[in-house]
Amino acid sequence: MEAALKAQNSTALPNHGEGTVVAGLPMPRFNRILVEPITGACGAEIAGVDLRQPLDDETRQEIMKAFEHFLVIVFRNQDLTIDQHKAFSDLFGPRMELPQAPTYGGQNDMQEVRREAFEPSTVVPSFEHFHTDSPFLEEPPKCIVMRALEVPKFGGDTAFSNGYMVYESLSEGLRKLLDGLDVVYSGRDIWERNERLPPEKRLRLRETHGFSEHELENIHPAVRIHPETGRKALFATTSYFRRFVGWNDEDSRALVNYLQSLAQHLHFHCRVKWKKDTLIVWDNRFLLHRGVHDYRMERRHLIRTTVRGERPLGPRDLASLGLSAEKETQTP
Ligand SMILES: [Fe+2]
Repeated sequence: MEAALKAQNSTALPNHGEGTVVAGLPMPRFNRILVEPITGACGAEIAGVDLRQPLDDETRQEIMKAFEHFLVIVFRNQDLTIDQHKAFSDLFGPRMELPQAPTYGGQNDMQEVRREAFEPSTVVPSFEHFHTDSPFLEEPPKCIVMRALEVPKFGGDTAFSNGYMVYESLSEGLRKLLDGLDVVYSGRDIWERNERLPPEKRLRLRETHGFSEHELENIHPAVRIHPETGRKALFATTSYFRRFVGWNDEDSRALVNYLQSLAQHLHFHCRVKWKKDTLIVWDNRFLLHRGVHDYRMERRHLIRTTVRGERPLGPRDLASLGLSAEKETQTP
């Protein structure tokens, strides 16, 4: 591994060359971990680190740098206990509960995604699109730390779309319009809607939780800014979407569907193939994700922690954060 790190840090490697741009920004330099970008848009495979062991400060900082830059970081062969999973997750922030996702192992701060081999695909149409998890909460998740226990031989990947790059690809006029828009997100009727589906189509939802009705609906900016850099990303997608504030349902749906269609472009994406003990951390603020439900008759079982994020900030918060216009647009 040392030799590999040495080789990577030599100037011979093209993906560390001066001026290389990946995930929309110049490629950072790493000294302690091996970082292999997955595509030009987002995602990196990380090697040279054993997450079962305590991590030194520099390694932790490099993992955070890779997370902020690539938005999706992938570690292979991480056979963690639940406590080790939680300890690694805690580096990213406090764990949180989700009102709708089934818990794992009787623990409220762990969730699972599980489909048995005999079960049909029960994905609701809105999760067949790129989405962010639980945007209806006041402080939606910052990131998800997910590990595979059992996966299909082929298929069942997770795909990601870079929300910064989607926003940056828009025309100036549309960016200006979106900068001033807010979205009503609601998770109030998840259970009611599920009940209306025939039993074989129902999602496996969490049955009880301590969230109030009021906590399941919130208004957030359509464009979300990074609290430190001010970089802007699209935060308006179809899952849990009700309407844009001040717009009727028809107009709202037309615009959000258009934005959703832009996030489908391959040049914003990466896609990760799971293997047993693959662990992925993905950003839930500036990145969209979706499962690829292309497998049949095989079991897929993933477990996760969810890390609490900040209340989403929008372009109107830039001034109060003391961010200048230059810092706001740090894209090359
Ligand atoms: Fe999701």
